[in-house]
Amino acid sequence: MNKKSFFNNFDGDNYDSGRHSDFSRIVENGILRRDFLKDSAVLSIAGLASALLPGIARAAIQNVSKDLMSFSPVKANSLDTVTLPKGYSHDVLISWGDPLLPGGVPFDERTRGTAESQKLAFGDNNDGMEIFPISKKRALIAVNNESANLELILLTGKVQSRDDILKNKNAHGVSIFEIEQKGRGAGWKVVSNSRYNRRITPDTEMEITGVAKGSDLLKTSYDVRGRKARGTWTNCGAGKTPWGTYLTCEENFDEYFASSSSLVKISKEYHRYGIGKSDEGYSWYKEDSRFDISKEPNEPNRVGYVVEIDPENPNAAPRKLTSLGRFKHENAELVISKEGHIVVYMGDDEEGEHLYKFVSKKKYNPALKKKNSRLLNEGTLYVAKFGKSDGRLSGKGEWIALLYGKNGLTRKNGFENQAYIQVFARKAATFVNATTMDRPESVAAHPHNSSVYCSLSKNKNRGKKKNAGGVEQLVNGPNPRKGNNYGQIIRWIPDNDDHADGKFSWNLFVVAGNPLVKKGLYRGTANINPDNMFNAPDGLQFDNDGRLWIQTDGQYSNKGDFEGMGNNQMLCADPLSRKIKRFLVGPIACEITGLAFSDDGKQMFVGIQHPGEDKQPSTFPYGGVPRSSVIVIYKDDGGIIGT
Ligand code: FEO
Ligand code: CA
Ligand code: CA
Repeated sequence: MNKKSFFNNFDGDNYDSGRHSDFSRIVENGILRRDFLKDSAVLSIAGLASALLPGIARAAIQNVSKDLMSFSPVKANSLDTVTLPKGYSHDVLISWGDPLLPGGVPFDERTRGTAESQKLAFGDNNDGMEIFPISKKRALIAVNNESANLELILLTGKVQSRDDILKNKNAHGVSIFEIEQKGRGAGWKVVSNSRYNRRITPDTEMEITGVAKGSDLLKTSYDVRGRKARGTWTNCGAGKTPWGTYLTCEENFDEYFASSSSLVKISKEYHRYGIGKSDEGYSWYKEDSRFDISKEPNEPNRVGYVVEIDPENPNAAPRKLTSLGRFKHENAELVISKEGHIVVYMGDDEEGEHLYKFVSKKKYNPALKKKNSRLLNEGTLYVAKFGKSDGRLSGKGEWIALLYGKNGLTRKNGFENQAYIQVFARKAATFVNATTMDRPESVAAHPHNSSVYCSLSKNKNRGKKKNAGGVEQLVNGPNPRKGNNYGQIIRWIPDNDDHADGKFSWNLFVVAGNPLVKKGLYRGTANINPDNMFNAPDGLQFDNDGRLWIQTDGQYSNKGDFEGMGNNQMLCADPLSRKIKRFLVGPIACEITGLAFSDDGKQMFVGIQHPGEDKQPSTFPYGGVPRSSVIVIYKDDGGIIGT
């Protein structure tokens, strides 16, 4: 490759060391510039550091580079198993259909369970998860069950009876259960029938909180006051609060609504959120009129939120947080600003949608413990507007407040009050010219500095088609490729290292691509090579040492544009060097979802979602019916994951 032309375009670093004075960031700044000046730099970071940096920084970098990712990388493959680096092993913790509650029965391969057995068992398609330790060897784990594949959960592959409908419904929601560490390997086992074990489904009663509580937009025949919702579904990514509650995020909720009458009008608001006259074949509306928009037109307004759950209190109603906005939520990354305000970063995962943050009005007070939940009810929702690239895949940006009466969000312009803005946050974001993004997925904040990362998984429509709000998705700074089929990861640093600040600097941490078959932008940035290439970054999370873990939900054909990439996978990245190494390859036709660590960093909980989807030949994990599962990864020598 012509070094000059490539790196003129791809030196992505734009950190302003004047305003971001934190020592680690200065180090990062220095390394990044040098890294991207040399093709082979990702292989010789330590050498470059020695040559170019002062002693103290050199020591810091050598430590990080040596220890952070010393595992031997895994080769891409299309096998029907979990492939890990040498010296690593895994156990299966739980699979779809395993019983959790009293009366539950072991999973039956011949029937694949019933509506009743499913209600008492682990749901399907596990996604985001978080661990809540209760003692050294005991913990609670909350796991999202995002969806259910009809072709896997039903013997016939199609909904044909009332039991099929209810079984599908009961496979959705959230599973919370106790785990205990005893025995060999990773040692973690499910505690059946623990008093903490709980299934939250699309029927569980919950509270509506925040700005839109009591709004006419949320009133239905079931809830004439707009204060009590029923159920959560399509729970994708997750989050955790410092006061020990779980945040579950409602994503593709629209696919479950339908109309029994062809006369129903699809309003602009419905259209923007994907609500139409037919569902994706689930038929919930035939058994429950809440899902029939000709009967309950406001029910779709009551989903699409972040939901807060207290895992320690199985009787507490989950809370739908309307102040954090309604859209197709991926995850909720919670940080604390310099002054103590709670800041929640959130992606809206659809082509041409946006990146948001919520800033609480009041400040966090650890002494108030779980009463801090109220902070999530009052505050300001912002949407990101990225400035154009300076030519090096980096630039500036700002957060625009979605506040009634500000930025043109007035009654005259169609925004009748703050509740309307929360419920139709996408419309407000379009009105203030927020940047259309390539499907914002997980957001992850670095544990030791103020940088924040977000996966932009892909966008076939970039440069080709308008988004659902009618806005052209022009190629722009953070989304630099037309018909983007590989995805990228963006990162930003708030001005003054303060998450509450209205401005930030951004750069692209990695632009995924395929150096085997593509050139230029589609080849990927310099930190992509034939040994670590991947497509569609999705789940993103830091561990306590600052390793960035990247999970993929992409094409696993291993052909054409995706040649050499194999099955979906998990990679590990060093934010300082930008070096990326493949850590795990999943079984056939799965997506890697959800990530959590034991307190000591020695066990890693990872989601294997929908192995064998679309009738692909997987038998993961037990050699029979393919089943979504949570696995626990550990080092055979008992070391920290990643080393
Ligand atoms: Fe549920 Fe955006 O992945
Ligand atoms: Ca996801
Ligand atoms: Ca995804």
